[in-house]
Amino acid sequence: MELDDINTITVLGAGNMGHGIAEVAALAGYQVNLRDINEEFVQNGYDQIEWSLGKLAEKDQLSDEEANAALERVATYVDLAESVSDADVVIEAVPEKMDIKKDVYTELEAAAPDHTIFATNTSSLSISELADVTERPEQFCGMHFFNPPVRMQLVEVISGAETAEETMDVISDLAEAMDKTPVRVHKDSPGFIVNRILVPLMNEAAWAVESGDTTIAEVDSTAKYEIGLPMGSFELADQVGIDVGYHVLQYMHEVLGDAYEPCPLLEEKVEEEKLGKKTGKGFYDYEDGEGAQVP
Ligand code: 3HC
Repeated sequence: MELDDINTITVLGAGNMGHGIAEVAALAGYQVNLRDINEEFVQNGYDQIEWSLGKLAEKDQLSDEEANAALERVATYVDLAESVSDADVVIEAVPEKMDIKKDVYTELEAAAPDHTIFATNTSSLSISELADVTERPEQFCGMHFFNPPVRMQLVEVISGAETAEETMDVISDLAEAMDKTPVRVHKDSPGFIVNRILVPLMNEAAWAVESGDTTIAEVDSTAKYEIGLPMGSFELADQVGIDVGYHVLQYMHEVLGDAYEPCPLLEEKVEEEKLGKKTGKGFYDYEDGEGAQVP
């Protein structure tokens, strides 16, 4: 398959990443089928796309016509088979759990046309292990976007053990067509490149606070003003979802060893369902709208 053969992209999962990826694909002119497991989830994702396109138009980064045209290219689905019947590429962004993703790929393999490429937005899980569930491991790769997809430039394109070079080429071309910068990752190791470095940074910040050596406010101001990151590491954890970082760490801990042991502070937040911006509370409080505050 070549870039010009791609017309329709199905995005599985309308959450934080899924809706953002669908938005980016629609902005690039593709027909997008956005699917989640129930009407509420998929509608919520669609509403977030509408909000985000509105924000971009408000800031003159898009015209109103372009925003409306992008939204019109997004169709919503609950039935997985229907959502992939005409898909040239499926980008999967369902929760970061190996079992959930494997179940989705089993269903997807049975429903998708033979030519369809499967690209997973996993943050850390083995591409080869996921590809093994399907009968098309050569048409399977990682396509890892960053949060928020509409603002972040990088896309990691990750090869599994059996991914064909042609699949890497077309998915890299697709990332460029979406106005992103693809970086090819040829070793399928936990967390790939960015999360292998970034998620332990968030974890170490949490350990430093947990041990009483510092505070969230101190860490975040030094990260922003001295280390030069665009956000403090606790703000970033809230942005990506504390659960996402925690699941990445659990997997890295399991595969790579004790250096990646998740800090209990992260686990507590996950148990309390204070997952960051998406739940209104995380390390900061977002419920009053403007300006985050340390709870
Ligand atoms: N769509 C449209 N507008 C959005 C938006 C979206 N998805 N998200 C935020 N905005 C809006 C805000 O509402 C705000 O609007 P307002 O000015 O009207 O209040 C505005 O954007 C803020 O934008 P600014 O340009 O003023 O803010 P920043 O310059 O701080 O940029 C940022 C925001 C791009 C998110 C920047 O802080 C940043 O780069 N942060 C780091 C993010 C990062 O590192 N992400 C990667 C995390 S790792 C990951 O995702 C991998 C995963 O696998 C774990």
